[in-house]
Amino acid sequence: MNEQSENKQAASRSRFSGRLGYVLSVAGSAVGLGNIWRFPYLAAKYGGGMFLLVYLILMVTFGYVLIVSETALGRMTRKSPAGAFCTFGKGLPYQFGGWINAVVPMMIVPYYSVIGGWVLKYLFEYIRGSASILADENYFTEFIASSGSVEFWFVLFSALVFFVILAGVKRGVERVSKVMMPMLVILAVFVTIYSVTRPGALEGVKYFLIPNFETFSWMTIVAAMGQMFYSLSIAMGILYTYGSYIGKDVDIEKSTKQVEFFDTAIALLAGLMIIPAVFAFSGGDMNALQAGPSLTFITLPKIFASMGIGTVVGIAFFLMFFFAAITSAISLMETSVSSFEDELHWSRPKCCLLMAVVTFVIGTASSLGYGAWDFVKIFGMAFLDFFDFLTNSVMMPLAAFSTCILIVRVVGFQKLDAEVECSSAFCRKGLYHFFMKYLSAVCIAVILISSVANVLGIITL
Ligand code: PFF
Repeated sequence: MNEQSENKQAASRSRFSGRLGYVLSVAGSAVGLGNIWRFPYLAAKYGGGMFLLVYLILMVTFGYVLIVSETALGRMTRKSPAGAFCTFGKGLPYQFGGWINAVVPMMIVPYYSVIGGWVLKYLFEYIRGSASILADENYFTEFIASSGSVEFWFVLFSALVFFVILAGVKRGVERVSKVMMPMLVILAVFVTIYSVTRPGALEGVKYFLIPNFETFSWMTIVAAMGQMFYSLSIAMGILYTYGSYIGKDVDIEKSTKQVEFFDTAIALLAGLMIIPAVFAFSGGDMNALQAGPSLTFITLPKIFASMGIGTVVGIAFFLMFFFAAITSAISLMETSVSSFEDELHWSRPKCCLLMAVVTFVIGTASSLGYGAWDFVKIFGMAFLDFFDFLTNSVMMPLAAFSTCILIVRVVGFQKLDAEVECSSAFCRKGLYHFFMKYLSAVCIAVILISSVANVLGIITL
């Protein structure tokens, strides 16, 4: 493409209307299943307060560095990841770095929408007044094995996502985030207050908030680091794409701090909603706390049913959960569509159609993987678990590593600093340089090696 048409494309690129729309959309992307479903069970498993402390330290250092990097590169190049990398050079390493960042969201959004469908189903059942049915120990396992029903809810959830994407960045993504994110906060505060005021809940609050150094282990760091990646939507092309939609006047550092604050606040509230409730319900039984992924879909409905007003709390919780899931799915889909728009130069509806096919194929495999297709296993994993492993444990570390190399070896600190400084002072510049130069690659290697070792059964995460 010649320079003139590239300039034209950059000028006609979608834009957020301003900083608020941008911050709420990035927060909408960050706050998702990771905060409400994954964070509480990991925190419960890895010693509560100790996990929280490690997580917070990593968030304001390593997480901060990666968010600033991806956003600045997106804004500098005005491209989604594949195009952004190729702005700096031609050849295989650039193609690899760009496309691995671009492909991650395309592979995540289908299975993420399957889980979004589960959330929608639970919300529907609570609204229908089936709180006691959901509380049955076997309900969740039977539901995810019922292929037709799971597929239906997955398709419905994906259709809602496409509806927003087709409306565009300002009219779709931004508008939905501006409505849903404040409502999410209100619902989260409501459920948290209810949960921490249950008799016996205070012990759970203490467990969650006060670090106990005896619970610290190497795995605490590994799990917290993986969760930070997941939760902040790092290494999945989203921040490049959203960065390419902002103007030079947006203060990248300030927005990053706000997004981190928002994301952590919701994760904290989710922890405060779930851990004290489990404590109160089980009398502090460690087995209940270590329930892992099933904490939200099996343990929590049981707790809600045992409460006097379980239906109301159940609706509030799953509505909030639904808002969190759909705003994140939107960001994953927007990034995928944007990569196709940039690279194939197709119209937005045509790119949406292509993503609809990808979503349907991978999503259907994931939704049937616990039911009709449960005889198919990849490395011993059902489809959904396999896609989750492949993206989060293998591809995301490689994507983040590519970004670090691009900055350190090709773009250079001078150019990156200038991009951040064109709208404000770069206050944590020293920390940024130090982490980028010496620590980021080590942290990424730790995540990659330990999660692969975990799947191979060499260590237990
Ligand atoms: N950051 C979002 C969340 O916490 O749910 C979005 C997301 C993260 C989606 C990781 C998918 C994923 F694998």
